[in-house]
Amino acid sequence: TPPGGITPPGGITPPGGITPPGGTTGSAPVPDATPNVLPDFQYLPVLNDEDGNPNDGQATYSLIAQDNVSVTVTTPTASWTTPMMRYNGLQQPPVIVARRGDNITVNLQNNLAEYTTIHWHGFKIPADQDGGPDQPVNAGTARTYSYQLVQSAGPLWFHPHAHGTTATQVYNGLAGGFVVKDEITDNLEASNQLPSGAYDIPMLIQDRSFEPDNGTGTRNLLYQPAGMGGMMGMLGNRILVNGVQMPALKVETRQYRFRLFNGSNARTYDFALSNNANFKVIGTDGGLLPSPVDTDHITLAAGERAEIVIDFSAYAMNDNIMLINRLGTGVTADVMRFDVNTVATDNITLYTNLPANADVYQRLASTDATAVRNFVMSMAGMGPGGMQFVINGKTFDMSRVDEFVASGATEIWSISNTSGMAHPFHAHAIQWQILDRNNIPAAGIDLGWKDTVLVQPGETVRFIGRFDPVVNKGLYMYHCHILEHEDAGMMGTFQVM
Ligand code: C2O
Ligand code: CU
Ligand code: CU
Repeated sequence: TPPGGITPPGGITPPGGITPPGGTTGSAPVPDATPNVLPDFQYLPVLNDEDGNPNDGQATYSLIAQDNVSVTVTTPTASWTTPMMRYNGLQQPPVIVARRGDNITVNLQNNLAEYTTIHWHGFKIPADQDGGPDQPVNAGTARTYSYQLVQSAGPLWFHPHAHGTTATQVYNGLAGGFVVKDEITDNLEASNQLPSGAYDIPMLIQDRSFEPDNGTGTRNLLYQPAGMGGMMGMLGNRILVNGVQMPALKVETRQYRFRLFNGSNARTYDFALSNNANFKVIGTDGGLLPSPVDTDHITLAAGERAEIVIDFSAYAMNDNIMLINRLGTGVTADVMRFDVNTVATDNITLYTNLPANADVYQRLASTDATAVRNFVMSMAGMGPGGMQFVINGKTFDMSRVDEFVASGATEIWSISNTSGMAHPFHAHAIQWQILDRNNIPAAGIDLGWKDTVLVQPGETVRFIGRFDPVVNKGLYMYHCHILEHEDAGMMGTFQVM
């Protein structure tokens, strides 16, 4: 199994093996041909602070969840419209950019025909503002989320967390990026140690399948989780980057910072460049790494994020470099293309060590822990909704508190995976530090802040975190971030007392 690979659960071999369901045009693999002319890269729209002053420590945003927004989907060979769910009727999911210390107010208006929530994924936040499934916002109603940003700059994100419909609401188009900035990133950007502005580009990566054209130029989304009982989750046959399949981004001969958000329901990607060139990973889910890590690939499971820096300064005019995905079936390897088209002077000397006051240096040791909790992800066989994955032998029950955490506690959570399939384990409330994987101490990109950790079959990952005695209170969730697994009950609750 390749790292991060999705393999069928052990012990059960359905007749004919586990393959994405066939029989519809929508789920057939898209041919692996890369035309010379690719659709233009689209930038995610940035939502502006509605009070007009991004520097006054207060920021207000409004998000209206709507259904049946006519979204134009562009691929290398065709373009059509698809009715999708969206915030604010936008063609693409939005990005909110805010600053550490800001008091954030988000007004959610739910114009869907079903209940929703907005969950603030990766945020250090009180439970009553966390947008979990225990806080439904009913159809036709509104609510306000308010919280202070009290964590390092990083690529957070948000999405619905309506129990039973999280997967379909995200798949239908509700999600967004949330970029936190702070003094450290300001200084690194101002001193040209981090690409910024036009050279700092969020990329929301989501796979989708579409039904055939119904004769009117419209193609509906095809939602068909793969594997027996849908156990592999929804794996689309097209990889969309900011809503476009295989776009091309014109780049200058300089360094760029890309913020990769894996907003897919179920797919794990292993991103690399088509020429196997190295790039730098500079940040993980919750912020910048102490030092950039040189690598030729990065694995990102559903819900995970990373910041990478690619240096195009050695390329020649008209060079094309593909961002590829080395994992998975039923999709082309090509994700998007960088077309070198402008000679520029690269003024960036990438930072080698974050300043000493960066939070990421405050590493917790296992001896700091006041409690250790064990979580085992396993397969429980066929249930009413199909193949069932469970955590500690239980399926989700909103009225049950699975774990009680003392306010201010520093805890080690040890996550084991005894199923035959990799699961990205996510816990709300805080950012975590990985201690070790199968007893091998964390190194490299595992030294960054994490809220979602891919746990391979047979693997045990231990991470440690501190629950803030002021911020963290109330009932939170932990779960697999394969959204079909989460909706089917691969989720538990913890109460910070
Ligand atoms: Cu991004 Cu509880 O999820
Ligand atoms: Cu979350
Ligand atoms: Cu899972």
